[in-house]
Amino acid sequence: MSITKDSELLGMQNVSKAVGEVLRQMRAYAAVGMSTFELDAFGGRLLGQFGATSAPYATYNFPGFTCISVNKEAAHGIPSRHKILKEGDLINIDVSAELNGFWSDNGGSFVLGKDIGGHQPLVDASRYLLHEAIKSIRTGVSISSLGHQIETGAKKMGFKVIRNLAGHGVGRSLHEAPENILNCKDPSNKDKFTENSTVAIETFIATKSTQAVELEDGWTLVGNKGGYITQHEHTILVTNTTPIILTEPNGF
Ligand code: CO
Ligand code: CO
Repeated sequence: MSITKDSELLGMQNVSKAVGEVLRQMRAYAAVGMSTFELDAFGGRLLGQFGATSAPYATYNFPGFTCISVNKEAAHGIPSRHKILKEGDLINIDVSAELNGFWSDNGGSFVLGKDIGGHQPLVDASRYLLHEAIKSIRTGVSISSLGHQIETGAKKMGFKVIRNLAGHGVGRSLHEAPENILNCKDPSNKDKFTENSTVAIETFIATKSTQAVELEDGWTLVGNKGGYITQHEHTILVTNTTPIILTEPNGF
């Protein structure tokens, strides 16, 4: 959405603080031996305390309040009583919600406890590339050039990007224009970032795959060539200088 008045900015700040706080607290709460169902239920209760409604649950009938993707799951992992977190798991939590008619979206990957699987470099690359991307965004910057920046940055670090997942406009709904803020160059995309717009920027950094494919459960995404995928996401406000990171409370 495009922010035109103070009340809209306040609305976006409030919902972004809520989803950011919920993500931060879920990460802190995650523990070895806990099921992803239990972690999601905790997040659902926190959203309720903020008066916020889970976006995937309300909008897409997703079977959970948040998306929790473990190890080879890239995104849209379904919380389950049967998925028990283990030491060294690569976990991604994505929290999006609506509050008073405003929507915000954020996510992050991390290693639970000791990094047995050696996932930390992939996690660090994704987080670093997100922050570098955000630093480059301002009014008039082309969306394709941002994708190019993420793609070349990932390549330099020995990683790939997922080419069919993207960041997006956010604000009056979870997904709105601009729809395709890719992690790679797309010469056909002539869109530019516009002043006072709110957008969700998200990285999808991979060890082996370049496409995300859906599992038979109709939700869970994994890489087309296997390997691991990390994601970090912030909702930001585009300005003529450095953007304002609305979901900064998530601590990623
Ligand atoms: Co998200
Ligand atoms: Co998103």
